[in-house]
Amino acid sequence: MMTYENIIFEKDGGIAVVKFNRPKALNAINTGVIADLNGVLDQVEKDSSIRVMILTGEGDKAFVAGADISYMVNLEPLKLREFSASLHELGFRMEALPIPIIACVNGFALGGGTEIALACDFIYASEDAKFGQPEINLGIIPGFGGTQRLPRRVGKGMAKELCMTGGLISAREAKEIGLVNKVFPADGLWEATQKTAQVIASKGRFSLRAIKHCIDSGYNLDLRQGCAMETDQFGLCKASPDAEEGMSAFLEKRKPEFKGELK
Ligand code: CAA
Repeated sequence: MMTYENIIFEKDGGIAVVKFNRPKALNAINTGVIADLNGVLDQVEKDSSIRVMILTGEGDKAFVAGADISYMVNLEPLKLREFSASLHELGFRMEALPIPIIACVNGFALGGGTEIALACDFIYASEDAKFGQPEINLGIIPGFGGTQRLPRRVGKGMAKELCMTGGLISAREAKEIGLVNKVFPADGLWEATQKTAQVIASKGRFSLRAIKHCIDSGYNLDLRQGCAMETDQFGLCKASPDAEEGMSAFLEKRKPEFKGELK
């Protein structure tokens, strides 16, 4: 297992745990964090024993308090643009990863923090987590999907209000608007996230990849095209031994044992 300067990467059975590890800067994202996360994705892509990934923050205060302002303050416009482009590449890589990623938001998730959580497959949060897009307070705009993934998740009006006011919302409010799936007391968040990760890790790897692909890629297609894609992926599931195992296990009244092979 490689070690990284800005993140902690551990494997716990079929679960990859990735922690942002710059607690003194509230885990703000700089180029080092981006490079390290790309390194982790390289490793995870090659390791078929990993079935699901959890993204969380080290320390008890922040998930990620945004892009690193001390890094951005001196950047020329084209360099700032490049920084945004590298964040977007990272987001697309996370969405293209064949396994699910759960954001386990244990504190501030602001700006790039909310945005990287949105690039995960879904978000669990602690009661004291805070979300928001405060870039407007810095005289800039969101640069990692806040004007794109956020409205797709919570609707245009809510996304505009968050981006235009720069105000923060609680985890409960984030749940109300559909940004967060579930909210837990701070001391129960990790266990709950792990439990869900274990459930997901026990499923067929091919089906998980197909679900992620169909929902992410199909979301922006019209219904007929999206359903055509689902039709193909549905048929393709039979290329994996997991489909035969799942159906046979049902008929034989036993629990399925998915091998997780991707054929
Ligand atoms: N970048 C760099 N450093 C940051 C940071 C950030 N985004 N957020 C916090 N820090 C640093 C602070 O500068 C401080 O460092 P020092 O101890 O060296 O002074 C340390 O983390 C602790 O922060 P605070 O003292 O501010 O802690 P607090 O409890 O008083 O406030 C907070 C917490 C409300 C999260 C506050 O730190 C804050 O508002 N942070 C900035 C949030 C923000 O604006 N995020 C958006 C960034 S822009 C972006 O993300 C662009 C994009 O879309 C890609």
